[in-house]
Amino acid sequence: MEARFPEGFLWGAATSAYQIEGAWNEDEKGESIWDRFVRIPGKIENGDTGDIACDHYHRFQEDVLLMKGLGLKAYRFSVSWPRVLPRGRGGLNPKGLDFYSRLVDALLAAGIEPFLTLYHWDLPQALQDEGGWARRETALWFSDYAAVVAKKLGDRVRFWITHNEPWVAAWAGHGWGRHAPGLENPGLALQVAHHLLLSHGHAVEALRDLVPGARIGIALNLSPIYPASQGEKDSQAARRADGFLNRWFLDPLFSGSYPADMLEFFGPLAPRIVPGDMRTISRRLDFLGVNYYTRQVVRADPEAPFGVEYVTVPGGERTQMGWEVFPEGLFQLLSRVHRDYSPQEIFVTENGAAFPDEPGPDGKVQDKKRIAYLKEHILQCHRAISTGIPVRGYFVWSLLDNFEWTYGYTKRFGLFYVDYATQRRLPKESARFYARVIAEGGLSGRSGSR
Ligand code: FCB
Repeated sequence: MEARFPEGFLWGAATSAYQIEGAWNEDEKGESIWDRFVRIPGKIENGDTGDIACDHYHRFQEDVLLMKGLGLKAYRFSVSWPRVLPRGRGGLNPKGLDFYSRLVDALLAAGIEPFLTLYHWDLPQALQDEGGWARRETALWFSDYAAVVAKKLGDRVRFWITHNEPWVAAWAGHGWGRHAPGLENPGLALQVAHHLLLSHGHAVEALRDLVPGARIGIALNLSPIYPASQGEKDSQAARRADGFLNRWFLDPLFSGSYPADMLEFFGPLAPRIVPGDMRTISRRLDFLGVNYYTRQVVRADPEAPFGVEYVTVPGGERTQMGWEVFPEGLFQLLSRVHRDYSPQEIFVTENGAAFPDEPGPDGKVQDKKRIAYLKEHILQCHRAISTGIPVRGYFVWSLLDNFEWTYGYTKRFGLFYVDYATQRRLPKESARFYARVIAEGGLSGRSGSR
């Protein structure tokens, strides 16, 4: 099997601030909504917190060396807003900003392209206390924050991602109470989603002004949706699930309007939109970031929320998250996004799998299932490129085992195993596999056969 990738293809790995940094209250960092949320009893498995996480704040040099060892071409990380602006607005914390400056320098010295995400869910608690994303002004405060980061790092960072997965921030955080800030109000979730998109648009404007040559995008969690049967009702359910997850974000970003069928369906829950908002939201993007893990299969069920029931397909292989392994879905998703929205460029900004890894008696972590998962998905990227879809890079989630939100430390997604007691990092076999893929510029008979 041969799957050669184009010259310059960016092989990467991804992380986020709250999931790896730790140092939650060091060097004048402000509290984030996640620092607060994890302290509510019962919210996180085993009562885990990100207080220490992978201690990356103190170990970033070592971690950059791990990346260099893999041969990574790019590294996607996020900046913690409250580390830079402890109160969310005004009052810059130079030590916090300097941390990212040193990280970027270390990456560049290692020949690794930094992909900087501005928001991976850790809003400053001070802003939450003023209303958080429910409040329209937060969108402007976000672009002020973007400007602060851009002024410091714009001379060295080329790739900018405004938001990570606004659907998750809006719904898990404000619709279902599973993520910080823990609110449960569907109408609010939709208003928050609108403000997140608006803040994205404002940040795009700020970045374009401040960073000449910046390549700006957003990372969305997208899935292809399949109806459980050919029946009319199930097809309708699939259309709605698609509207809910995919089109609600893609349409405004690329076409400047919310999908009409969903606006009608949401009725009074639909967000308040001010004239000019949609123009701001649909500012030109240089790339779309696609986070893909699995597909969704749905059935109509009038009793279920929004009339959509998510079905577990029997027989399919699943990861430790319970997510079906469905590599083909990545190709179908990329094809659909390309066909319907034609972003200039696409990066797969997250893809990966959790399995219950542990080192064996030989000290190795034999994560064969992860290797198979990555290999199959990399092949689907290759297939997409072969059909002319502009996929320019691929990021494994994640570089390290880390704090997996409500699941705490129970889910391991890393290429490196982290022993949390000692903070020792151990390359899993998948790390060796990925290093070979990068060195060979794709899958050759050798890497492919493993
Ligand atoms: C995505 C998140 C990321 C990680 C993976 C498993 O939704 O962006 O932080 O939790 O899922």
